[in-house]
Amino acid sequence: MIDDSVGTDEVTVDLVVDGRPVHVTVDADLTLLDVLREELGLTAVRAGCRNGDCGTCTAMVDDRCVKTCLMLAARVDGGRVDTIAGLADDDGVLSPVQRAFMEQYAFQCGFCLPGMLLASTDLLKRNPDPSTEAVRDALSGNLCRCTGYTNAVRAVKRAVEMIGQPPR
Ligand code: FES
Ligand code: FES
Repeated sequence: MIDDSVGTDEVTVDLVVDGRPVHVTVDADLTLLDVLREELGLTAVRAGCRNGDCGTCTAMVDDRCVKTCLMLAARVDGGRVDTIAGLADDDGVLSPVQRAFMEQYAFQCGFCLPGMLLASTDLLKRNPDPSTEAVRDALSGNLCRCTGYTNAVRAVKRAVEMIGQPPR
């Protein structure tokens, strides 16, 4: 929403980020990635290539995974944004996908892991029992040249089994 009360190059943006309402006034050309990191201090959302290639900046916007470096914050006004910081529940209990990644030694590094966890979570919401090919396809937007994705794929398959089971 363009707000006439602020400078012409600025916009006010209302979001619900990880369940918390936020109201920010930012440059109209600022990306959602920069708002999350620079304005809201959510540095768990990683900045990598900044051109849509690597997936480190992944967050959920209105329940769908997006690359936040490609999205202007102004376009998300009124929306809900869920980041890796909000994936565990309020008591700190990890989500099934997070637990499965730990169990299957799919830790990955701090750059690719947040995006992989969110892409996996997004996949399982849309497809509760994906094929291995579907898992690989869902993770393909999150680049990692280190691990071959083997443990990550195994973790997503394990998460399918864990969903619905209470954490131990
Ligand atoms: S930082 Fe957004 S895709 Fe690489
Ligand atoms: S880029 Fe993170 S483990 Fe390869």
